[in-house]
Amino acid sequence: MNNFIFQNPTKIIFGKGTEKLAGAETKKYADKILLHYGGGSIKKTGLYDTVVKSLKEAGVEFLELSGVQPNPRLSLVQQGIEICRKEGIRFILAVGGGSVIDSAKAIAVGVPYEGNVWDFYTGKAEVKEALPVGVVLTIPAAGSESSPSSVITNEDGWYKRGLTTDHIFPKFGILNPELTYTLPNYQTACGVADIMAHIMERYFTNTNDVELTDRLCEAGMKTLINNAPKALANPQDYSARAEIMWTSTVAHNNLFGTGREEDWASHDIEHEISGIYDIAHGAGLAIVFPAWMKYVYKQDVQRFAQFAVRVWDVDYNFFNPEETALKGIEKLKEFFSSLGLPVSLKDAEIDDSRLEEMADKCTASDTKTVGSFVKLNKQAVYDILTLAK
Ligand code: NZQ
Ligand code: ZN
Repeated sequence: MNNFIFQNPTKIIFGKGTEKLAGAETKKYADKILLHYGGGSIKKTGLYDTVVKSLKEAGVEFLELSGVQPNPRLSLVQQGIEICRKEGIRFILAVGGGSVIDSAKAIAVGVPYEGNVWDFYTGKAEVKEALPVGVVLTIPAAGSESSPSSVITNEDGWYKRGLTTDHIFPKFGILNPELTYTLPNYQTACGVADIMAHIMERYFTNTNDVELTDRLCEAGMKTLINNAPKALANPQDYSARAEIMWTSTVAHNNLFGTGREEDWASHDIEHEISGIYDIAHGAGLAIVFPAWMKYVYKQDVQRFAQFAVRVWDVDYNFFNPEETALKGIEKLKEFFSSLGLPVSLKDAEIDDSRLEEMADKCTASDTKTVGSFVKLNKQAVYDILTLAK
């Protein structure tokens, strides 16, 4: 096990009716806030009214900025920064999914910074301070409700890039599984693929002697495999929704990665796909991850065989562990397909005309590698995208 520091400061408020606490929690930080949300699902579901009521009852004044799109855009972030500066706002309440939360975090780091907020996403500048952010979560997926990350897309060139800094851990995350009943099945499935991917990015490691976190990861994956079909069959299955929601948070709050090297190549490759083609991040991961696995499994056949046996209940073939390893990859692919997700670029109606461009952007024109389980250069990323065709 490697040395590590673990600290996750986000207060999680979980369960039925908890969205009514949004106003009181927010009031601890500010009297005037920016209420940030997406394309309108929260108005249809009635969550908007509940949150507004609770803000009013707590005496919190608010301005609104809606319209966050999936794969959130830099231009809206810049509007948010302007509003906060002009109105003297010092707190942002994100009501929605990963896209809304990431957009809120971007505004939060942009307000106190004199330069262009995009500098933080290209590594040109380092975050020194940020406004506090609070979250009412409506889709379990990205884990942004208690992660130190934000991912946004710059429309100028369609670059989708991430920022990680301790300054943007949300102050609180309100998680009511009932709020996820209204998710279309496809969004539920995309969320499950993303959560699964967050666990697998940590599971496939070169670090030895990490039994506890191996088994935590396996428990997380098993929980998703058991509960995702239940949530799809019955969207109002509270316990299935609750299991998925809590798994999504712990899958990405850094606990499962403690003491081990993490990978993240599949995420880097996926961000090129959703950056250009604007598909759901989870769908992109369902396409990329099995292809990445096929490309890298020989690096540690035993680890892949362990994944097959412990997560997918495949029988271990003592004479041919490689066969066991490959069966695990097939099982993962079948699982994603069974949820209604694409598992190839073709399934997502993406042709092969821009694979080279994506490999180039992902590796900054072959000047850097991505991933750590196996370090991938431009050619390797291109080969994985080709396997994903
Ligand atoms: O915009 P609205 O109308 O709210 O609709 C959303 C959106 O269309 C809808 N939705 C959300 N909750 C709903 C609902 N519809 C009905 N009922 C509900 N309860 O779902 C759609 C997708 O929402 P989005 O926020 O885009 O989904 P998700 O949470 O998967 O976020 C994806 C983004 O997070 C980034 C991804 O790259 C992607 O841009 N990620 C952020 C991470 C982080 N900050 O730590 C890590 C992840 O790996 C990921 O990269
Ligand atoms: Zn993700």
